[in-house]
Amino acid sequence: MKFRIALVLAVSGLLAAAGVSAQQPIVIKFSHVVAVDTPKGKAAEYFKKLAEERTKGRVKVELFPNSSLFKDGEEMEAVQLGSVQMLAPSLAKFGPLGLREFEVFDLPYIFDDYNQLHKVTQGPVGAGLLKKLDSKGIVGLAYWDNGFKVMSANKAIRVPADYKGLKMRIQSSKVLGDEMKALGSIPQVMAFSEVYQALQTGVVDGTENPPSNFYTQKLQEVQKYLALTDHGYLGYAVIVNKKFWDGLPADIRTTLEGAMKDTTKFANDIAKKENDDAIEAVRKTGKTEILTLTPEQKAAMKKALNVVHKDNESRVGKETIQAVYKETGFTP
Ligand code: LMR
Repeated sequence: MKFRIALVLAVSGLLAAAGVSAQQPIVIKFSHVVAVDTPKGKAAEYFKKLAEERTKGRVKVELFPNSSLFKDGEEMEAVQLGSVQMLAPSLAKFGPLGLREFEVFDLPYIFDDYNQLHKVTQGPVGAGLLKKLDSKGIVGLAYWDNGFKVMSANKAIRVPADYKGLKMRIQSSKVLGDEMKALGSIPQVMAFSEVYQALQTGVVDGTENPPSNFYTQKLQEVQKYLALTDHGYLGYAVIVNKKFWDGLPADIRTTLEGAMKDTTKFANDIAKKENDDAIEAVRKTGKTEILTLTPEQKAAMKKALNVVHKDNESRVGKETIQAVYKETGFTP
């Protein structure tokens, strides 16, 4: 018996000396609401790969896509409580946290293209917004792109008058609510995981989202028209529980920061193509008609939605809005 104990002690001593220990890996639970085959889903998988490889297994990233662990309305609290460590919510979902400034990204037509967007997300304005998360027990690590939104319904929607009376599902952003009201429709805040069924049962009539989300949620099965409005942007802030992040060994944190930087490049490189491909994929199903707006129809949409900027000045903050205008050159 004594010999056996001595042997165990000797072996574990040798292993410890060799740097091999029975240490458990640090687990990062990363929850999100979209399908795996989307810009965010793919980026999450890429981050997992880089993080695990570069930390040589000291970090394990567990992914929970498709609202499989937490859905909208639950996940923010989950990251604050430490039930998950990492999320990448849409920028339209930070209002309920008390950070209404993030709704600046929801303002209609505020970005013409990804280049203009990146001036904000990769510049001082974007960094300043992420810093505001600290006070909520959250660290903002990066912005990941998705894309420009399209509108869908079961009737052809080309000009503002077509939206009158439609019940439109939106994310939890007051700016988005005002946008739908400006078009004469009725906004309905709803978790992403519930959209398909709500459309199927007629609880709502239409939606807005980038094409990649539309296609991967199979909304073509329940929506007859998809209008390429490009009326606003949807993207993400990658966030972590602050206590968890600050408590990581410094070398691990640095490695993860590097993995996040490279993942962000990956995410932003694939986003546009993923969305362009999704439009074609929807077209190919033959179930949903793609409506390309004429310049006049686009101008009418822009004109109708313009009021949302002014109306949300006090909510979003004049300073934040002006700072974004300055980067993008947008004039309301
Ligand atoms: C939505 O709720 O429509 C989106 O925020 C989903 C997502 O994460 O892209």
